[in-house]
Amino acid sequence: MSDSIRILGLESSCDDTAAAVVEGIGCESKILSSVVVGQQDLHSAYGGVVPEIAARAHVEKLDICCKRALEQANSTLDCLDAIAVTAGPGLIGGLLAGVMFAKGLAAGTGIPLLAINHLAGHALTARMTHGLDFPYLSLLVSGGHCQFLIVASATEFIRLGSTIDDAPGEAFDKSARLLDLGQPGGPAIEAAARKGDPLRFEFPRPLINRNGCNMSFSGLKTSLARKVDRLGIGSGFAFEQDIADICAGFQRAVADILAAKSSCAIAEFRDRIGNYPSSFAVSGGVAANFEVRNSLESRCDAMGIEFIAPPLEFCTDNAAMVAWAGIEAMLSDSPGDAVVTARPRWPLDEKSPPISGFGKKGPKA
Ligand code: KG4
Ligand code: ZN
Repeated sequence: MSDSIRILGLESSCDDTAAAVVEGIGCESKILSSVVVGQQDLHSAYGGVVPEIAARAHVEKLDICCKRALEQANSTLDCLDAIAVTAGPGLIGGLLAGVMFAKGLAAGTGIPLLAINHLAGHALTARMTHGLDFPYLSLLVSGGHCQFLIVASATEFIRLGSTIDDAPGEAFDKSARLLDLGQPGGPAIEAAARKGDPLRFEFPRPLINRNGCNMSFSGLKTSLARKVDRLGIGSGFAFEQDIADICAGFQRAVADILAAKSSCAIAEFRDRIGNYPSSFAVSGGVAANFEVRNSLESRCDAMGIEFIAPPLEFCTDNAAMVAWAGIEAMLSDSPGDAVVTARPRWPLDEKSPPISGFGKKGPKA
């Protein structure tokens, strides 16, 4: 193998079909292309992701995305060292669509195939975008997940805590639905919150004064639902300012919980590793939220810890992170399972006790 590794990444675990070509030169990354085709318009009439519709759309779009990613990267299949596909966790139909497509491509070309954990893709993104050294602290905060992890190596993740109910992205999406703001809810609430007063309405901050790094977000959505009822918003009677103030208060509560629990995770990292983390990296769709980014950054600044937030396009689902996780796997001692199968539930840290509940992307990992 030459000094550089070029990988085609494929992602189809939820409602984004994505393909990307990434090159790894030692530990340096070069993102040659990143194509993402969303499915918002297909699901908007139903108020959420419909798994069957998502799976069919992935089947239709995977080859188009793949062709586009290779063209944009000025690359052909024979330039590739491997194909990396998200094999889990996620919605089974979408995962099967991606895995079957990748298997066909690999069988037809003889290119090696790697099964990638979607959460590892998010957690390793900071190494692709900022070249972080191991170990570092990661907060993975998306539509289906919310967990603090020690990223000890490309294949070793220690979960310090997680949400015990909804993921923050899920809470944003459900709340936006109650406010009739459209999907995905996170960007819609962030936009509405810009003109809002975050102090007008009170929102709970569950578990904030408890020890440990576990979090809870479902009470925020319930609290928002009560305000929506009280103000008559659900019956079509709504003042723009009321909605803006509710969104601002809700968003502030999410950011406060994540920031407070980040301090607990930093302390826990020190207890387990023996020193404070030099870097704290956030990833996942909710990491695109500026209030969340700012409050985490202030917390890290106060503690002298470098804060890393990837560019927005690599926070939300994409295939560059999948390709990069493939490069990391090839550079590591354990490049993964020889048999690639779709795994709707696939915890990153197999040693931590399972988290109960069923999220937007299937059972929580
Ligand atoms: O990582 P991602 O693209 O997919 C999952 O792995 O879940 O995250 C999608 C989630 C959605 O719930 C979406 O509402 C949320 O990320 N999100 C945001 C923002 N952009 C996307 N939440 C808050 N603020 C944003 N700007
Ligand atoms: Zn994701």
